[in-house]
Amino acid sequence: MTNGYERPASVFDMVGGHEAFTTLVDTFYDGVAQDDYLIAMYPEGHELEGAKHRLQTFLEQYFGGPTTYQEERGHPRLRMRHAPFPVTPKSREHWLKHMRHALDQLNLPPMYDSLMWDYFERAATAMLNTPDEDSDEHRIDPSRRLL
Ligand code: HEM
Repeated sequence: MTNGYERPASVFDMVGGHEAFTTLVDTFYDGVAQDDYLIAMYPEGHELEGAKHRLQTFLEQYFGGPTTYQEERGHPRLRMRHAPFPVTPKSREHWLKHMRHALDQLNLPPMYDSLMWDYFERAATAMLNTPDEDSDEHRIDPSRRLL
C-alpha cells in the first residue's frame, strides 16, 4: 500500500535541488579560477567544465539527489582520487574559503547551512595528504608521528 508518498524529502530537495547545486558549484569554481594558488593544482587548468560536472554530480548524490556520479564514475573513493594532488592545510583553507562564499549565495536556513558546512569542513580535513611547504613537520622524528 502506498499513499502517494514515495520517499522523504532529501537535503538535496530541501536546499533547492539541481538549481541550487548549480549555483553552489558555479560560484565555487568562479572563486577557484581566480585563485592562482589553487588553480595551479587543477590538471585541466582553467578548463573547468569537467571538474565542475564531477563536483556537482558528487555533491548532488551525497546529499540525496540523483546518482549520476556513481553511474559515471563508480564508487567515489574521494581520498584516493585526491592522492595525485598535494592537499595541504593551506589548499584546504583556500578550498573552504571559496566553498563558504558559494554556500552564502544560497542563503539557506541555518540548519541546512550548518549541515552542509560541517560536511565540507570534515571532508576537506579528510582529504589532507601533504604538510604545508613551510611546515616543520619533516623535522619530526617519523617514529613519533601520530598519523
Ligand atoms: C581540501 C581541499 C581540496 C582540494 C585542494 C581539492 C582539489 C581537487 C582537485 C585538484 C581535483 C581534480 C579536479 C578534477 O576533477 O578534474 C579534485 C577533484 C574532486 N574533488 Fe576535490 N579538493 C579538495 C577538497 C574536496 C572536498 C572537501 C570534496 C567533497 C566534499 C571534493 C570533491 C571532489 C570531487 C567529487 C572531485 C572529482 C573526483 C573524480 O575524479 O570523480 N574535494 N579536487
